[in-house]
Amino acid sequence: MAKVRLEEIKRRFNNVTAIEDITFEIPDGEFWVLVGPSGCGKSTILRTIAGLETATSGKLFIGDRLMNNIPARQRDVAMVFQNYALYPHMTVAENIAFGLQMRKVDAKLIQERVKTVARSLSLEHLLDRKPKQLSGGQQQRVALGRAIAREPQVFLLDEPLSNLDAQLRDDTRAELKQLHQELEITTIYVTHDQVEAMTLADQIVVLNRGKIQQIGDPQSIYARPANQMVATFLGSPPMNILSAKYTNDGFDVGEQLIRVPADVRESLQLHPGQSFDLGIRPEHIYINELQRNTQEEIGELFVEVKVVEPLGRETLIRAALPDSTVLLNVQIGGNVRFHPGDRLSLKLDLSQLFVFDSITGDRLYPQFNN
Ligand SMILES: Nc1ncnc2c1ncn2[C@@H]1O[C@H](COP(=O)(O)OP(=O)(O)OP(=O)(O)O)[C@@H](O)[C@H]1O
Ligand SMILES: [Mg+2]
Repeated sequence: MAKVRLEEIKRRFNNVTAIEDITFEIPDGEFWVLVGPSGCGKSTILRTIAGLETATSGKLFIGDRLMNNIPARQRDVAMVFQNYALYPHMTVAENIAFGLQMRKVDAKLIQERVKTVARSLSLEHLLDRKPKQLSGGQQQRVALGRAIAREPQVFLLDEPLSNLDAQLRDDTRAELKQLHQELEITTIYVTHDQVEAMTLADQIVVLNRGKIQQIGDPQSIYARPANQMVATFLGSPPMNILSAKYTNDGFDVGEQLIRVPADVRESLQLHPGQSFDLGIRPEHIYINELQRNTQEEIGELFVEVKVVEPLGRETLIRAALPDSTVLLNVQIGGNVRFHPGDRLSLKLDLSQLFVFDSITGDRLYPQFNN
């Protein structure tokens, strides 16, 4: 086991910068998740750590050792790819043992190791089977087993669950978390799935266009997103974003005014005509009991229901502001009956409002002391 440190890592492909300014240190034994949309550079970072890719500039340390010029096979890392390939002619046991055999580990030791790994991944009863006699989830676990068996210093996983169906993905995700708690091998996990990121990570690194947007534990990234990209990427359904203009002491969102909370007024220097992006999560919007036809209270919003999605425990309503194509996601309790075309008056919990710079996307409000 070892800590992993990246210092100003940059990777260019011809004229395209895939990643830059990548700096972070993962303490020994922690589970970190790199998350972000397709093409943001997640795999490039992982492959650079594995030694399958060479950094254009910057430094990579595993433990205290500078790794830039150390070949992949000497880095003592194990990587599991999205399209894991098992050896089809070998049994599960032989697949798991493969890395150890290549390293000429003692046969008896290999046997013991395979047993332990198989037990921790619930593969004991499958050891004599060939890969094609296994389900997708079982194959996935064998691929993980093959990587774990080597007891690497660092475990690198690139979207390892993406080929599994939803149920299997949930189960394997939980097993993976449990496994990490037992083995405490430093793990770097790449995914574009925000649920996986939130549920697995000690720390999340959010990436966009090759750059780090924010690093933090799941709760604080959700509660204190640094910018609009992070705010809308983590959380499902995502945070609502409304373009607004400051006018007449309120935020004008298409002919309707949202009251400016006192704190916002104090922390931002507001000028009439200034544009902002307002953010509010679906769980912080309520439906007013009394339905009126005119806006009586600032902070109230009139919308028209477009789509109703019952999810059992809760219902998701997608509603549009008048004369606007922007849909607001509203998350409410399970047993409500609304229909497309219904007009609703919504109440926003303004204590949960975010204000973003409409050009840079940076969070302007709230300002936190971290
Ligand atoms: N060998 C290469 N040559 C040129 N460009 C590359 C190469 N590898 C990656 N890139 C570019 O670098 C950027 C980052 O790619 P990367 O594979 O790291 O993204 P990713 O975050 O893993 O995306 P995904 O979620 O789709 O796997 C992309 O714009 C990609 O097109
Ligand atoms: Mg990738």
